[in-house]
Amino acid sequence: MKLTKDFWEEKYKNGDLKWDIGHVSTPLKEYIDQLEHKEIKILVPGAGNGYEVAYLQMLGFRNVYVVDLAEQPLKRIKTACPDFPKDRLIQADFFDLEENGFDLILEQTFFCALAPERRADYVQKMKAILKPGGKIVGLFFDFPLTEVGPPFGGSKTEYENLFKPSFQIKILERAYNSIQPRKDKELFFIFEK
Ligand SMILES: C[S@@+](CC[C@H](N)C(=O)[O-])C[C@H]1O[C@@H](n2cnc3c(N)ncnc32)[C@H](O)[C@@H]1O
Repeated sequence: MKLTKDFWEEKYKNGDLKWDIGHVSTPLKEYIDQLEHKEIKILVPGAGNGYEVAYLQMLGFRNVYVVDLAEQPLKRIKTACPDFPKDRLIQADFFDLEENGFDLILEQTFFCALAPERRADYVQKMKAILKPGGKIVGLFFDFPLTEVGPPFGGSKTEYENLFKPSFQIKILERAYNSIQPRKDKELFFIFEK
């Protein structure tokens, strides 16, 4: 299966959005709530319908960028956040993103939506677009990696082996505040460049 733009557009067209929880997830909300500096440069890759983007906007974060392959979720974010700058809603492949110098990148069900053979590229792209000291923060699924996906799973050990050569692993633990359907199935992490 090719995880192309058309694949994702089709999912949005058919309303086949099993990942879409309809609101900012508790672990990301609680992380965002303790951020002190509203001017930091934030990226939400593979943002989908972008509930965390709307949440950041509501709290007054004004240096937020979104990249998604699909057009439909970007349109939805535009409607939900009319003041969000249009040039920061980027319809592109994450791996081709030119914008860089991010302080923070928020991850949720984007990594698991990529073909597993792109994982090493994901680590390198993240490293390339973060500032020194910048962080990727978010959630990874904690169920075995199989051929069946997306979502493609993984384990704490697999994630450690993948990220440790390029990032300082500050936290990589079972999330205590997952939404009910994801309880005991996800790891919360903070990786620092
Ligand atoms: C499983 S959805 C997750 C959406 C959102 N993060 C959430 O939690 O609701 C994956 C999203 O990543 C986007 N996507 C997949 N591959 C991508 C790529 N290479 N570059 C940018 N976006 C991509 C898809 O269009 C889709 O919106």
